[in-house]
Amino acid sequence: MRIIAVTEPGGPEALHIVEAPVPKPGPGEVLIRVAAAGLNHADIMQRQGHYPPPPGASEILGMEVAGHIAETGAGVGEWKTGDPVCALLAGGGYAEYCVAPAGQCLPVPASIPIAHAGALPEVVFTVWTNLFEPACLQPGETLLVQGGSSGVGTMAIQVAHLFGARVVATAGSPAKCDFCIGIGCERAFQYKADDWAEAARDWSGGRGIDVILDMVGGDYFPRHLRLLAPRGRLVHIAYMRGREVTADLALITQKRLVVTGSTLRGRPVAEKTALRDSIRLRLWPHLAAGKIRPVVDRIFPMEQVADAHRRMEASDHIGKILLAMS
Ligand SMILES: NC(=O)c1ccc[n+]([C@@H]2O[C@H](COP(=O)([O-])OP(=O)(O)OC[C@H]3O[C@@H](n4cnc5c(N)ncnc54)[C@H](OP(=O)(O)O)[C@@H]3O)[C@@H](O)[C@H]2O)c1
Repeated sequence: MRIIAVTEPGGPEALHIVEAPVPKPGPGEVLIRVAAAGLNHADIMQRQGHYPPPPGASEILGMEVAGHIAETGAGVGEWKTGDPVCALLAGGGYAEYCVAPAGQCLPVPASIPIAHAGALPEVVFTVWTNLFEPACLQPGETLLVQGGSSGVGTMAIQVAHLFGARVVATAGSPAKCDFCIGIGCERAFQYKADDWAEAARDWSGGRGIDVILDMVGGDYFPRHLRLLAPRGRLVHIAYMRGREVTADLALITQKRLVVTGSTLRGRPVAEKTALRDSIRLRLWPHLAAGKIRPVVDRIFPMEQVADAHRRMEASDHIGKILLAMS
């Protein structure tokens, strides 16, 4: 099979197509003939040599795919050859075939093109685990999504809106702000031009925001603590402006705030399977009914993987960038 390999850690030009053996699914695993792989920032960091895969995971880039089951390993009863699935991976997605734990696969509804389903696993797992587990977002509460036009942001807006929250977001351009409003935001603020914190406070009627989903960190942290409403929750999934912060801890005690966050990749399969079960039960019917959808920016053929990485690094995209693998 063909895979995309990193010859030497570095820029997008380090990505090359090479031949490799088709992997064998072990017990509890499935082999997927990959239609499309989703791009993630983690792929860029791994390409640069800054984010090694967890122990036991494939060295090949790619943390999510969609395709058809090509083979099932011992003990797999829930999938059969030919089933269309999308899957969350710890690695191995930039390939014509990949192995996934059966419990990290979700069925692709007939209403969604198989390639588009490659845009789903990372964002649905991330949004579900962060908005509804530690943050316990409730209907009627307010949510601020930093980076609303990102892959994660576009799903967070849709899901929070669907479950009855009132959502605002930040984005880098007027067109991206308009897009956020089109998928469920009441307002969107240009983080490069507006004082987004002041604008969000005004929108909340001065009360502050109940939940903030943040991928920025750095100097946003003290601003987030000030912006949160009493009993507000700040959820970190990344820290693009820095991971070391300074802030007034009295804001946490006085307002009884919760500061939390999580990553997915290194979690045990059993934990990801429990999350998958909850997503399948509570979110998947809405996907099949068209109430939420994968937001696909562009699908690049695997031969153009370097251009796909460049587009993500330039942040020119809205939603998810995909690689067509077959
Ligand atoms: N913890 C986890 O489990 C987990 C899972 C998935 C992803 N992540 C992380 O979450 C982040 C988003 O992932 P993604 O795949 O959705 O990436 P993405 O599509 O590339 O999005 C990055 C977003 O960050 C926004 N941004 C950059 N600087 C900003 C600032 N100063 N203020 C507000 N927004 C800013 C960009 O906005 P503009 O383009 O409008 O400038 C863009 O929307 C990445 O850092 C990724 O590594 C974490």
